[in-house]
Amino acid sequence: MSNPSEADLIHMFKGIPFTTRSSPELLKSLDTIHAREDDVLLVSYPKSGTHWLAGVITKLYNTQVTLTSPIEFGDISKLEELNKVSSKRIIPTHLDYNMLPPNFKNKKCKMIYISRNPKDTAVSMYHYYRDNPNLPTIDTWTAFFDLFLKGDVVCGSWFDHFLSWEEHENDKNILFLFYEDMKKDLPKIVKEISLFLALNVSDNDIQDICKKSSFSEMKSDTEKENSDPNHTVCALTSNRKLIFRKGAVGDWKNHFTPKQNRRFEEIFNEKMKLSKM
Ligand code: A3P
Repeated sequence: MSNPSEADLIHMFKGIPFTTRSSPELLKSLDTIHAREDDVLLVSYPKSGTHWLAGVITKLYNTQVTLTSPIEFGDISKLEELNKVSSKRIIPTHLDYNMLPPNFKNKKCKMIYISRNPKDTAVSMYHYYRDNPNLPTIDTWTAFFDLFLKGDVVCGSWFDHFLSWEEHENDKNILFLFYEDMKKDLPKIVKEISLFLALNVSDNDIQDICKKSSFSEMKSDTEKENSDPNHTVCALTSNRKLIFRKGAVGDWKNHFTPKQNRRFEEIFNEKMKLSKM
């Protein structure tokens, strides 16, 4: 069988590339989603540590919670499927702030945005594209590097995504986190998350959650789990090895040439000139 064409895999919605696993009907209907005041949104640009954060958050609750697949993934039946969840919902999304359904904003749902050094994000996404038949074929790192800088990848430009959320960094219902801070001092960040979610978690429990959320533990756990992609954060693959790849800070140094690094920095400085990052 021949490889699917790019048009079979990607379509544009409001100027942003989405995979065809996000149906146009669902994307058009997102604004009708019913939000609940106790929903927790887990927001990220792809490959920023979403699964890691989801693992931590679900372990923080000692009551029943349901981690859904991303709101923008699936077809129109997704709306009904979300309505049917009877327990508290932890809902991932890669949508930028402007596309987030207004009901979640109006209900002031708690949202946690996780971000990561975009150079490492680009490298992580490159490997994800390369090994994932549900995404267009990428021949070389150089080719992917150009696409990433142009925002010509799923979920669009990293810069636009980050800036759209950074504008709301000080909203009381939004917590901003960085992957690198989780790597540096996970117990501190887990504590911060528990305070934000108003959960009473002991220091012992925090230590335990951190142990169970290490890269190696999560990687081996996930290999044992039911890997139905409709019930995982990453809805584009059932191959868990694509998600738990290296889990390191600074892998970009093994991929970027000095020239690519200079170009990245130039574009970063230009696009992010109004950012506090
Ligand atoms: P790498 O490809 O650099 O290894 P997402 O969940 O948003 O798709 O992000 C995936 C990235 O998070 C991958 O990065 C993956 O290895 C990393 N990751 C997942 N779980 C992790 C953990 N427990 N500790 C550190 N990194 C983790």
